[in-house]
Amino acid sequence: MKDNGNLFLPPGHSTIAPGTDALFDFIYYTSIVFFAIVVFVIVYSVWRFRPWGFKGYLRLFIIPKDALEIKVTGQRWFWSFDYPDGATSVNDLVVPVGKPVKLLMSSKDVIHSFFVPSFRIKMDVLPNRYTMTWFEATDTGAYDLFCTEYCGAKHSSMIGKVRVVGEREYAQWLESSSKAGEGMPVEDYGAKLYAQKACITCHSVDGKASTGPTFLGLFGEQVKLEGGGTATVDENYLRESILSPQARIALGYQPVMPTFQGVLKDKQIDALIAYIKSLKESGSK
Ligand code: CUA
Repeated sequence: MKDNGNLFLPPGHSTIAPGTDALFDFIYYTSIVFFAIVVFVIVYSVWRFRPWGFKGYLRLFIIPKDALEIKVTGQRWFWSFDYPDGATSVNDLVVPVGKPVKLLMSSKDVIHSFFVPSFRIKMDVLPNRYTMTWFEATDTGAYDLFCTEYCGAKHSSMIGKVRVVGEREYAQWLESSSKAGEGMPVEDYGAKLYAQKACITCHSVDGKASTGPTFLGLFGEQVKLEGGGTATVDENYLRESILSPQARIALGYQPVMPTFQGVLKDKQIDALIAYIKSLKESGSK
């Protein structure tokens, strides 16, 4: 039998050629049949389910006009939240139940991603750009929130809770947050901030070195610095390290601390310094 070849091969001139061409043709035409079936199902689904997917997309991306706007900042390795009347929180997002909440998000360093599985919302958080998402919580309670984009060594500590509370409780929380630390010994307020503002992620208070130096026995020490020289850990060094962490880095540590400029108020920095001071003698190194 003469083999005339096909679109892909020249005419065959050996005993093997006809069998090879037959197998080739079989695979080729079978593929065309399945390709046609798959494309038909795709086109049909796009047409058949268009009210579903398209409306869902619009609901997700059109933010209600009356939404409460909260600014979300991601940075290595914590979340901070700014509320309309000046209250702030770290890793804990407090919102009222049954009200649309708009999140206006940006990053101070690398790409993070804001994910609340219970609300089915996930949105990348980028440096130099705002991204947005919104939700309306239907039930009070505490729901997990995650960073879901690998952003460095402590990515897995970049977690928190969305606390959904009643309208009245939300108003009370806003008020107490603006009065936080009043009528409290300053070291105790510092201890509270140490946990609340996520210092705890990188600084221990039990003498163990972590991503950053331990706070235990730190105050008053002479520390060697990256790039040579020493510094005495006093109030000014601590303040500088909180606001401009890259200025004088303790020897042996990476320059990974984010600035807390704009995250901590002066009063809160004072309280943290008082807390670190109080850890001076409370234990052996
Ligand atoms: Cu931020 Cu992972």
